[in-house]
Amino acid sequence: MKALTSALIGAAALVQTVNSSPLFGAAGLDFPNVTGLANPTVHISNGGSAHCVSGTVKVNATTDKNLKFAYNLPSNQSQVTQTLVSLWSSGGDGYLKSLTSGTQRVSGSYDIEATYCLPAGKTSKSTKVQILTHGIGVDRHYWDFASGYSYVDTAAAAGYATFLYNRLGVGASSKEDPLNVVQSPLELEILKTLASKLRQGTLGDRAFSTVVGVGHSFGSILTQGVTAAYPKTLDAAVLTGFALDSNGLPGFGLGLNAAIASETQPYRFSGLSAGYLVAGTSVSNQIAFFYDPGFDPEILSLADATKGSFTLGELFTLTHVVNATSEFQGPVAVVAGNEDLPFCNGNCSSPTNILAGLVPALYPEVSEAKTATYVAPAVGHALNLHYAAPGAFDFIQDFLKKHNV
Ligand SMILES: *[C@@H]1O[C@H](CO)[C@@H](O)[C@H](O)[C@H]1NC(C)=O
Ligand SMILES: *[C@@H]1O[C@H](CO)[C@@H](O)[C@H](O)[C@H]1NC(C)=O
Ligand SMILES: *[C@@H]1O[C@H](CO)[C@@H](O)[C@H](O)[C@H]1NC(C)=O
Ligand SMILES: *[C@@H]1O[C@H](CO)[C@@H](O)[C@H](O)[C@H]1NC(C)=O
Ligand SMILES: *[C@@H]1O[C@H](CO)[C@@H](O)[C@H](O)[C@H]1NC(C)=O
Repeated sequence: MKALTSALIGAAALVQTVNSSPLFGAAGLDFPNVTGLANPTVHISNGGSAHCVSGTVKVNATTDKNLKFAYNLPSNQSQVTQTLVSLWSSGGDGYLKSLTSGTQRVSGSYDIEATYCLPAGKTSKSTKVQILTHGIGVDRHYWDFASGYSYVDTAAAAGYATFLYNRLGVGASSKEDPLNVVQSPLELEILKTLASKLRQGTLGDRAFSTVVGVGHSFGSILTQGVTAAYPKTLDAAVLTGFALDSNGLPGFGLGLNAAIASETQPYRFSGLSAGYLVAGTSVSNQIAFFYDPGFDPEILSLADATKGSFTLGELFTLTHVVNATSEFQGPVAVVAGNEDLPFCNGNCSSPTNILAGLVPALYPEVSEAKTATYVAPAVGHALNLHYAAPGAFDFIQDFLKKHNV
């Protein structure tokens, strides 16, 4: 439990509430003075390369594209389990079609829990930010998980600001209806709004001229969806843990062993509706997200102890917002663990590089010179939580620099 203990001690030592400006943290360090984040606390990234402020941002969002389902929320685990068996057996397409009855408009003002990080040191004048969207089963700490497992640190060392947030329904972000509201179309709008605020300077401490979207898994799906629906919002897209081979999705979906969050970890999720789920056990977490022997067992324990919730509405609209676009023409990097289960069926190199198929299919106007793939060796779906993650982190910063974003 070394990783878990040090993460908890680190959090206690480094987090302090900001009562008033100026923002000075532990040991007189300098922290960004941000606008747009309520109830800010300051802290240092796990590797110390970034100074961060966490808080909540209000996001107004509306969509006409959420789906409407002829489905009643489950009242017990037995119903949840049967729903997932139906959803994932034979791909689930028939089951999902039988439930779907058109679209619905959803609109609201949502609290989004987020962290804004700048490279350590007063001198950072960077106007480049990466907006990081996590996948299902984790929360935003996926991007700054532990010392040696921090995408935020690598990006900061390369000069980038980062903005990482808990998707709707996750952590302290608003807990909305898990069937009708917390779905991919609305979450796409929230990502788009956050990215626009960073560009305008209404979130953070400067207006960014470059906003790069970086996602993992469902977060990559939302990032891709934004490039298709709002091609001017992002300057580049980095899609990790996502590709177009869905043969492994049913195994992943069932392997998750999804369990009612409030019953599985009542000390974290009490009061949540049965439409909020988590990976059942650390065995389920390993099946879905890890590749042995590519990870430290303490990291798996920490991932299970801190697992993030996901909703039935998200599972029902998992890939719904993926769309081809000829309008987005920025650079696109596609990165995954070689042994990714959901999107490579356990081998991204078989029969050939599966990642290479994504850009021609979804971005027909993005030339080959503007795209690259990286397959991390001995890595499962939760790329950032494996030993080989740093190679992928470096590849991404090099890719962005090469393309001047
Ligand atoms: C923080 O930013 C606000 C708004 O831009 C400004 O009024 C305030 O003086 C700043 N505080 C410090 C310590 O720079
Ligand atoms: C969000 O909507 C509320 C009303 O629903 C409004 O009071 C508020 O000004 C809006 N905020 C933004 C940032 O648009
Ligand atoms: C689950 O809930 C349904 C509907 O309320 C009920 O009919 C069923 O008996 C319950 N199943 C179990 C295993 O409790
Ligand atoms: C995909 O793009 C097409 C063309 O722009 C659009 O009509 C369609 O609504 C989009 N699909 C989704 C799910 O947003
Ligand atoms: C993945 O597929 C490649 C190409 O078929 C093969 O060489 C490699 O051994 C496979 N890796 C695993 C872990 O099965």
